[in-house]
Amino acid sequence: MNLMNFDIDAFLRDYWQQKPLLIKNPWDGWSDPLEPDDLAGLACEQGVESRLITQTGDDPDLPWELEHGPFAESRFSQLDHKRWTLLVQAVDHYVPDVAAMIEPFRFIPNWRIDDVMVSYAADGGGVGPHFDQYDVFLIQGSGRRQWQVGGHCDENSELLPHNDLRLLADFDATDEWTCEPGDILYVPPGIAHNGIAVGDDCMTYSIGFRAPSRSELIGYWADDLLADMQNDDRYSDPKLKALKNPGEIPADALGRLHAMITEKLNDREAFAMWFGQYSSTPKYPDVDWRPEEPLGMDQLQQYLARETPIYRNPSSRFSFIREPSQIQLFVDGNSFPCTGESAKFAEALCAKNIVHMEQNYLQSDTVMALISELYNLGSVTFDQPETE
Ligand code: SIN
Ligand code: CO
Repeated sequence: MNLMNFDIDAFLRDYWQQKPLLIKNPWDGWSDPLEPDDLAGLACEQGVESRLITQTGDDPDLPWELEHGPFAESRFSQLDHKRWTLLVQAVDHYVPDVAAMIEPFRFIPNWRIDDVMVSYAADGGGVGPHFDQYDVFLIQGSGRRQWQVGGHCDENSELLPHNDLRLLADFDATDEWTCEPGDILYVPPGIAHNGIAVGDDCMTYSIGFRAPSRSELIGYWADDLLADMQNDDRYSDPKLKALKNPGEIPADALGRLHAMITEKLNDREAFAMWFGQYSSTPKYPDVDWRPEEPLGMDQLQQYLARETPIYRNPSSRFSFIREPSQIQLFVDGNSFPCTGESAKFAEALCAKNIVHMEQNYLQSDTVMALISELYNLGSVTFDQPETE
């Protein structure tokens, strides 16, 4: 499915990270990628993150209740006919047709893309008024959903006293739309929104993005740096001068102490390597595609000579950083320096989730070595992922 009549440049200029936008069915032919029963099936599986939110609690002002999956199948038959919703995270990792929904949004860089969450709601169901930290495209599948959007929220916005859900205490809708199959609502980070199913079988696909927080960047990178630090790399003061007051920490000492930190944090190359690895680390390492037996180079040659294309594992993350004389490919927390044909291949693999083998790839030892490493790590496969 492709986006038609959608001006990417105008969207990025006027809406991305700024204001919500309703895009009336822009697809060249919309069809539902998933059945409600398949979603319920996923929510029963171990290792799949799922939530059930019911709005039938005793307190009429705060009727939302949260349960975490995996669920027993019988849980779904116990539900009321109205006002509940099931949400399943990272459905793109398990269902190729849902993974394909990300492709039209690849005008946003791979490293910013998180996953596709899918919700199913009975009439009146919804997660309540809230805001998210990330951009999201909310694509309506089957059924209809009434969306309300409000103003900008932040950490100081007042929340309802709920132990599990971050619901807004004050929600004033400034716009309201009813989404029908194929319609897309874009919501930037921090904008209050509330979606309520109108009628049954309401399915919504959330193409979610991610943006690291400053504290996450500093915390995780510092952890990574610590692993390589030497205990004898210490402050020293061979030119120490006697002070009038021994209680003072003088400016030159502070300057040298501070430099011990900033010298490390200012290392842009080290940061690039770390960030590529960090940001390509899979969110759900449970989805393991490693072959039972590692594939040798001979077998690989035979396999690929049949012009078998290469498919990315939908739960793997692929990005690259361009360096002066090579590119650094990052896949699933690993880095691969690539030059010549392997650099071309790595770029092709980052650009599209399928790469067709060309003669120049097949004849390159470095490309073959790279494919074999990626295959044995479970990051690529040669068999077309099954579609529903
Ligand atoms: C939903 O699909 O019901 C919730 C999506 C959202 O509001 O972020
Ligand atoms: Co939301």
